Amino acid sequence: MKLKGQHLLSVKDVSLELINDLFKVAESMRPYATRQKVTRVLEGAVLGNMFFEPSTRTRVSFGCAFNLLGGEVRETTGLSNSALAKGESLYDTAQVLSGYSDIIAMRHPEAGSVAEFAHGSRVPVINGGDGPNEHPTQALLDLFTIHQELASQDRGIQDLSLTLLGDLKHGRTVHSLCQLLGLYQGLKIQLISPEALAMPTKYVDILTNAGHQVEIGNTLEQGLPQANVIYQTRIQEERFSSQEEANRYRGYFRLNKQIYSQHCQPNAVIMHPLPRDSRNDANELDNDLNTEPGLAIFRQTDNGVLVRMALFACILGVENQLHQYEREVNWFVGLDD
Ligand code: CP
Repeated sequence: MKLKGQHLLSVKDVSLELINDLFKVAESMRPYATRQKVTRVLEGAVLGNMFFEPSTRTRVSFGCAFNLLGGEVRETTGLSNSALAKGESLYDTAQVLSGYSDIIAMRHPEAGSVAEFAHGSRVPVINGGDGPNEHPTQALLDLFTIHQELASQDRGIQDLSLTLLGDLKHGRTVHSLCQLLGLYQGLKIQLISPEALAMPTKYVDILTNAGHQVEIGNTLEQGLPQANVIYQTRIQEERFSSQEEANRYRGYFRLNKQIYSQHCQPNAVIMHPLPRDSRNDANELDNDLNTEPGLAIFRQTDNGVLVRMALFACILGVENQLHQYEREVNWFVGLDD
């Protein structure tokens, strides 16, 4: 597979053929991710998990995915805890840390920083989010989830009518997802945001050039009724010049049970890259949706482990050796009734 020995810095690096192969490998990871089986295929390998910006699910699911394949994880979190705070360059940091790791996952607040780091790395580097630029592994797990959710309704990707909702200007997950959707043709995509937070033109162009039917709007009513998948995003307050400016959009596109029942198709799928901002004045995705079968946000986070396991396996070239290092689980799995 073409991922072997390669960096994953951008979704521009992946083709449709590669995605289809990757998703088959991701599906083969399910017995290990759900603790039906154990594989030790990466025993002895070390992941350098370097997160210089806050993260819960990307950081932990990278680590969890590597552990589930039998590898060890060495973690660095926060710029102030690293020698970057003393003026060390990304190049030097990469030269050093790639001597300690077999593969590195990295998040950094500046666009282009992970690519700069990769330039100095002697091992493959995976982009875990570089500022407002890209979040390729999130886009892959989002696309995997869209496939899974549509399949559960006996639909395929060709049936997708997707509404991207919220802060489309700063949301790197939707920037990467648009680029992946540009690999398909003839989909329906609605881009709904406050005008000041609209999707950058370069991503809209990718969608229109792929022949998708793209609608742009700024009200929920314009985006919800025709969607079979709704992808809500958080207002990315850390990307605004001031908190006051970000506060203008808090609660702007609130999606709750009443709005969902009134405007959405029955069982419309709700996705969100998370974290959702659950503070009272934000509530972009209310807790009263938690029992809706269409709410796919935690199936989405579970899928993150499958897709990241598949990426590690393919980049390190062990995707065909999983069974060779397999054994049964010897502990109790889940909660006893
Ligand atoms: N979706 C996502 O990137 O979440 P974290 O910021 O918690 O990693």
